[in-house]
Amino acid sequence: MITIGFESSCDETSVAIFSEGSILSNIVYSQIPIHEKFGGVIPEIASRDHVKKIATITSTAIQEAGITIKDIDGVAVTNKPGLVGSLVVGLSFAKSFAYYNHKKFVGVDHLKAHLYSPFLEYDISYPFIALTISGGHTSITYVKAFNDEQLLGTTYDDAAGEAFDKIAKVLGLGYPGGPLIEKCALAGNPKAIKFPRPLTTNKNPEDLYNFSFSGLKSSVINYVRTNPAFCKEDVAASFQEALFETLIIKLNRAVKDTKCHNIVIAGGVACNKTLKTKFNNFFNQKTYSLFIPSPKYCTDNAAMVAYLGDKYLKMARYDDLELGVNSRI
Ligand code: KG4
Ligand code: ZN
Repeated sequence: MITIGFESSCDETSVAIFSEGSILSNIVYSQIPIHEKFGGVIPEIASRDHVKKIATITSTAIQEAGITIKDIDGVAVTNKPGLVGSLVVGLSFAKSFAYYNHKKFVGVDHLKAHLYSPFLEYDISYPFIALTISGGHTSITYVKAFNDEQLLGTTYDDAAGEAFDKIAKVLGLGYPGGPLIEKCALAGNPKAIKFPRPLTTNKNPEDLYNFSFSGLKSSVINYVRTNPAFCKEDVAASFQEALFETLIIKLNRAVKDTKCHNIVIAGGVACNKTLKTKFNNFFNQKTYSLFIPSPKYCTDNAAMVAYLGDKYLKMARYDDLELGVNSRI
């Protein structure tokens, strides 16, 4: 079976071909150079650029996979969550593709695609705990079996990646903030400034696994405003340290409470090498197996959409052509 996947939920236009356990092609076109000058994604511009690129990226993906449209059995597309205008472009194109070529069709939740993305490279046994850290979402999920996910915690406000992006702006580093803060932090002292580790004290049982990063963000902004001679590198390193420690405390709690030994970390923030080192050091490899995808599968890509859509289609889970988009989960 061959499945084509489409992803256009934010500022990447991506098309991938998946067949029998392997990715035959995964074309990712990033709009970062277009949004960079605005310091963040401009939704209207994102939608317009998806419209321009999606057809040629589809042709390239099919060509690079060495197949023809006839060989494709199913179509998978991200239909939530994300920027509505961007999602509409991918969904409409994928629907037309499925309709005209008489292919099976299924919508995919972008966050679930991130959550299962480590399966593109690793065999992981169930159950596992997944920490999903992207630009729009932060969550901890207990995955008992394929398609049996229980959300344990999520963020009340800013997502982890969003905090990176906003703080990079305050530090004058540019967009997207994650890679720029990571680089800047390499020259800083992570212990220089003690920023808060929000919701980690375990006071409210409802918040055992939930996150809130807006207080951390405000604390960094206040520090920068009240210390005009601040050291950018120390602020970046201390912010990262506070955020990663918070993630580790919450993830460790979930791992202990569920007695899971398999841990998955997915989403754009999982590209961060300092994070990888910290998590690998914390979760002892004798007891735990930690699975983090390669950077190309951490940030937005259609390979993860094609992978999950393929699983759905194989279990006869289809959508009809009236499927709509949703900005939220
Ligand atoms: O998963 P993703 O590509 O898109 C969403 O679904 O949101 O994640 C993008 C986010 C951005 O906020 C970006 O700053 C962050 O991932 N990111 C990083 C790194 N690379 C990307 N954050 C920290 N360190 C990185 N190296
Ligand atoms: Zn994403």
